[in-house]
Amino acid sequence: MRRVATLYRTTVGKKVLMAVSGVVLFGFVFVHMLGNLKMLFPAADGHYAMDVYAEFLREVGYPLLPHEGVLWLARFVLLAAVGVHVVSAVQLTRLSRAARPAGYAKEESLSLSYASRTMRWGGVILLLFIVYHLLHFTTGQAHSTFVAGAVHQNYVAAFRSPLVFGVYFVAQAALCLHLYHGVWSFFQTLGLSHPRYNHLRRPFAAGFALVVFVGFLTPPALVLAGVIS
Ligand code: HEM
Repeated sequence: MRRVATLYRTTVGKKVLMAVSGVVLFGFVFVHMLGNLKMLFPAADGHYAMDVYAEFLREVGYPLLPHEGVLWLARFVLLAAVGVHVVSAVQLTRLSRAARPAGYAKEESLSLSYASRTMRWGGVILLLFIVYHLLHFTTGQAHSTFVAGAVHQNYVAAFRSPLVFGVYFVAQAALCLHLYHGVWSFFQTLGLSHPRYNHLRRPFAAGFALVVFVGFLTPPALVLAGVIS
């Protein structure tokens, strides 16, 4: 236990925590993107595919677990992962600033990698987006015609607005960049490096980020275009 605490205090320990919490968040984002593709499926027996899926997420595990048991467990794990990810990011930023002599301040602003700057700002944009997103589709305060449980209807009503589509587009662009740099840094942090495969790391990270971007934005774009109603 003391070894874990000691490791945590090091830069490497914090980077590992960032990587591990990042994998949890990435896993969620990927599954969420796949789930949202239910918007592309036709309704069956008078039920929208998306609503059936949302109902499944609420009831999965019942009666072994209470109603919404798995859902609350997932919420708890996600919240913890976001907390660990953000706290490690803030601490790593502080450590790297403290480690740099003041005289390098000007040079730093030039040499500080484009990646790490976009990671910090991208992370802040994503946090703001998540707050808006929960108020929009989960609690409904940021949705003008929200009906609890009517996910398909809430979704279509929202993305008929080009403004809402624009907000989601910007957030997904930020997510795409964040995932691209995140997946790549993940390989670095965990030392997954091999001279024969290293040239594949960037295209692999870019491919993943692009799949998530296109997967998330295709259903809203089809709603905006009037194809999904
Ligand atoms: C175009 C992009 C996205 C769309 C259209 C979208 C849509 C939705 C919808 C409709 C729900 C409600 C599902 C339900 O009530 O069963 C939801 C839930 C959720 N979304 Fe998204 N989402 C998007 C991107 C994201 C991203 C990028 C994140 C996180 C980084 C995210 C995080 C969440 C979370 C945490 C919930 C669950 C809230 C809860 O029940 O506790 N979403 N999303």
